[in-house]
Amino acid sequence: MTTNSEIIIFETRESMVDTFGNLWQDTARKALIHTGRFMVALSGGKTPIPYLEALAKKIPETIWQNTHIFLVDERHVPWSDADSNYGMIQKTLLNHFGISESNLHPIPFEKTAELSAESYENNLKQFFGDSDFPVLDLIMLGLGTDGHTASLFPKNAALNEKVHWTTSTKQSGIPHARITLTYPILNAGKNVIFVVEGSNKSERVKNIVTDRKKKYPATHIQPVAGKLLWLLDKDAASEISD
Ligand code: 6PG
Repeated sequence: MTTNSEIIIFETRESMVDTFGNLWQDTARKALIHTGRFMVALSGGKTPIPYLEALAKKIPETIWQNTHIFLVDERHVPWSDADSNYGMIQKTLLNHFGISESNLHPIPFEKTAELSAESYENNLKQFFGDSDFPVLDLIMLGLGTDGHTASLFPKNAALNEKVHWTTSTKQSGIPHARITLTYPILNAGKNVIFVVEGSNKSERVKNIVTDRKKKYPATHIQPVAGKLLWLLDKDAASEISD
């Protein structure tokens, strides 16, 4: 692992959820002192669900008022669709308190995934300004068994996007076209946190965290100036020694 990275292995989900909530709170407090705003990008899939549900109960209103929620990636479906990442984030987190619409930055559902990516990038540039890559305070990432993260899949052209902030992707075997933040944005993050559970991911975790195998997209998540943190349950960590 590189100097700015850390691995924490948990015996129980409860302790992992609790630690994630504390990290969120600490990172938020520092960001609010520093800039007055807390910028977070969330991934979809199933792993985040209990973590986001716990946040809804734990984080005080004072933090939420100045928190901005972005999406790491999205499936090209309406937000009301059961497969929508934003839909999942609304159900598990956002619907539980009154966060202002102006603090929510979902990926627009346009006619095509390409148009959604373009529209999302325009929205991000309007919000952050378009000089440098935006620095998000916290980016929550998951890991697929194929070593993908966000919607950056193995051997996919999206891996090569180094200029645009977002891109659209299609991967065989994956039901929907996807829209995703690109490596430059993910690696500009201040605190990039992988949350990975389950023995079905243990070999991939070893391939990425220990072996640093470049063929897996998650290996290329290397924050330029920020911190990289792997929160692993003991099953996902069963093939690495910390
Ligand atoms: C998505 C996610 C994706 C996810 C991994 C792991 O849109 O599906 O952003 O990158 O993090 O596929 O998914 P699980 O947490 O469901 O295993």
